[in-house]
Amino acid sequence: AGPQPLAGRKVLVTAGGTIERLDPVRYITNDSSGKMGFALAEAARELGADVTLVCARTDGPPPSGVTVVKAPSAEEMLAAVMERLPEADAVVKAAAVADYRPAERHEHKMKKGAETMTLTLVRTPDILQAIGDWRRASDKLGTRRAPFVVGFAAETTDVERHALDKLARKRCDLIVANDVSAQGAGFGSDTNIVQVYGKEGLVLSLEQQSKRLVAERLWQLIAQRAGWSADG
Ligand code: PMT
Repeated sequence: AGPQPLAGRKVLVTAGGTIERLDPVRYITNDSSGKMGFALAEAARELGADVTLVCARTDGPPPSGVTVVKAPSAEEMLAAVMERLPEADAVVKAAAVADYRPAERHEHKMKKGAETMTLTLVRTPDILQAIGDWRRASDKLGTRRAPFVVGFAAETTDVERHALDKLARKRCDLIVANDVSAQGAGFGSDTNIVQVYGKEGLVLSLEQQSKRLVAERLWQLIAQRAGWSADG
């Protein structure tokens, strides 16, 4: 094995696209395959971490050697993440969480009726925001060192502006922006192209490479910024 900058660290990674049910056979979801989150979990395991992977809907099986927790919807993911937050040294949120869910979840399969139908959607909880609020509260109480928090930002326009806005609003330590309209980046592909922002602005820019390599570079950066590595 190579160097293990994450040895002895507990990390929490989220992956996949949440599914927000309308009835027992229908739901709203998105194009996330879980590949980015899986790559992060696998790379963290290789770098020595104790990894918990919180998964929504994904394509294919998760990597071996990590603890997998299923959390299909945004609300289930919120509960799964918040429960494990107190033990985590780092949280990386690669999952694509739905911003809205159907207001009503029908117990039985909905029947065909009128020519048109209107769906009412309501906001889901923002998990990253909840983590930020929790960190602020625990900072105030001075209870324990809060985990290092990394969000992702899937954007199609004005990537930098939106990423910096999310970093500030959701109070993360770093935000990984990917322009999901670029070829070879974002949803479903085996590669990604990302820019990582901290409070001071751009801190790392990675050109097109496998999600696995992107994941490794991200963990190296996290270990360094969190003060875990010898050269931190
Ligand atoms: O899974 P793949 O096919 O490999 O694709 C990877 C990816 C494109 C999904 C991934 O790289 C990515 O960008 N993930 C974040 C997608 C997303 O939901 O972005 P967002 O800009 O809508 O959200 C910003 C951040 O807030 C994310 O870390 C998200 O997990 C979080 N969030 C969003 C909504 C919500 N209700 N709760 C959240 O915590």
